[in-house]
Amino acid sequence: MKKDNHLLFSKMSMKLTENDVTDERLFKQRRRFIKSSMALSLGAYFPQWVIASTAALSAQFTNRKKTSIGADLKPHSMEDIARYNNFYELGYDKEAPQRNASALKTDGWTVEIAGECGKPGVYTLEDILKFHTFEERIYRFRCVEAWSMVVPWLGFSLGDLLKRFEPNSKAKYVAFETIYDRKNPLPGQRRKILDWPYREGLRMDEAMHPLTMMVTGIYGKPLPNQNGAPLRLVVPWKYGFKSIKSIVRIRFTETQPETSWSLSAPSEYGFYSNVNPNVSHPRWSQRRERVIGSLFKQKTLMFNGYADAVAHLYQGMDLKKYY
Ligand code: MTE
Repeated sequence: MKKDNHLLFSKMSMKLTENDVTDERLFKQRRRFIKSSMALSLGAYFPQWVIASTAALSAQFTNRKKTSIGADLKPHSMEDIARYNNFYELGYDKEAPQRNASALKTDGWTVEIAGECGKPGVYTLEDILKFHTFEERIYRFRCVEAWSMVVPWLGFSLGDLLKRFEPNSKAKYVAFETIYDRKNPLPGQRRKILDWPYREGLRMDEAMHPLTMMVTGIYGKPLPNQNGAPLRLVVPWKYGFKSIKSIVRIRFTETQPETSWSLSAPSEYGFYSNVNPNVSHPRWSQRRERVIGSLFKQKTLMFNGYADAVAHLYQGMDLKKYY
């Protein structure tokens, strides 16, 4: 039976209260509240929310979790986040994805799980989302093009989802693919700018890292199509192109999967692509970044500011080298 995701998500959103998510207008007020709760040593409180859907699904979306991840960051406005995009399937300039957003149809979305795991199959979006504890995490987002934003993502740890499919001992990597219908391509897929479908991949330990997120929303609302509805990856310590949008296929592999940008320009984009101010892109420096909506640039941080949490994953690798 076909499901209307938009309807599903609208119903989810209806159950969210102002106290549950980061509302742009309430953001400053809430930061004061967070600070004072921390000062009282009561532990960082962070807005929670209830995700609910249709009656049949509501029980599965009522998990809640407190998180203080990113409580010290100031998120960009929804307007910025949903207007300045890279989503080549929907066009090539920054505002094209918003203009062409309606070309992406998310009704009846399914995700195929394949490869080295005990539970391969085609899962509906509802199957994918059920059982998860949704949380908001405010992350820095750094594009390889040297611009950045701060985004309040809604979702859950990718690792929690992957475990459900029982990856086996041969599963060393996870490969992801974006929607691509050869007979009915999205506007940007009519040109062979990339070898469609858009593909990305992570090493298994990167995929299982608790910061790696499966995202379904921003500011407590469903993901706009131009931001990768209905389901995208977010890996905050890597350049933005690793955070693949509108995922339809996840495959556990024994060998390192091919990825779109490194296939298209191997000398410019590697498999790891960790944010690293000390390694320049062949055509520009990565030392600084332009903050969207600001006239100023800021210093780029090693692993985009998440080094304490992730540097151990790359022990033994020469971080001055391009990967
Ligand atoms: N995923 C797909 N399928 N297609 C794309 O073109 N662009 C990537 C990444 N994921 C892209 C994609 C790049 S280059 C960036 S910087 C981010 O999405 C941008 O995410 P945003 O538009 O939500 O800021």
